[in-house]
Amino acid sequence: MNIIETFDITTQNILKELEKTQHDFWNISRVTAEFMYNFIIDANIKSVVEIGTSNGYSGIWLGKALKKTGGRLLTIEFYEKRIVLAKDNFEKCGVADIIDIKQGDASTILEYLPEDYKIDFAFVDACKKQYIDFFHLIHPHLKTGGYIACDNVISHAQKVQTFLNDIDNNPDYENVILPLPAGLSLGKKIK
Ligand SMILES: C[S@@+](CC[C@H](N)C(=O)[O-])C[C@H]1O[C@@H](n2cnc3c(N)ncnc32)[C@H](O)[C@@H]1O
Repeated sequence: MNIIETFDITTQNILKELEKTQHDFWNISRVTAEFMYNFIIDANIKSVVEIGTSNGYSGIWLGKALKKTGGRLLTIEFYEKRIVLAKDNFEKCGVADIIDIKQGDASTILEYLPEDYKIDFAFVDACKKQYIDFFHLIHPHLKTGGYIACDNVISHAQKVQTFLNDIDNNPDYENVILPLPAGLSLGKKIK
């Protein structure tokens, strides 16, 4: 059975509708979403931070996985109009109760996270040139054994190159690039 078919019918319909406008809202591919959904459940991940909410397509998948692990999602977006759409989608898909949406620039929001805020899995899918900054801001909050996944590392290879060089040269991380549609890097914090 396809993963999407395990969801309630409303969620299935909303995800399929959102896939029709995927390019307008820069949503991740379904296969990338399915990968993260399985990964979060299999690794029993509880605390996820997403940079780049858009209309909530990826957030629905992350939220559905976190419903299974008993976790929560913090998702960050600076455009009010997209947040309104995302909120509505989260409510309709039954994941709104475990999702906190913060509006603003992700760098600022990450900078002001409480010192003791711990992240198991960070999903970065926003301004590509800022990936390196997001990485440095996420690093102190990421648990040892936690992950940072970044989308578009193949489709926007040039723009994310400084980030990739940085994480590849960081002895605290093991990083791999998965050949999912836009390219997803998956870095594990090993110490
Ligand atoms: C690629 S889309 C996210 C798609 C979403 N993850 C999904 O798959 O459904 C990137 C989003 O990040 C937002 N964004 C870009 N840079 C940002 C920043 N520095 N802070 C907050 N939001 C940002 C954009 O407004 C846009 O909606």
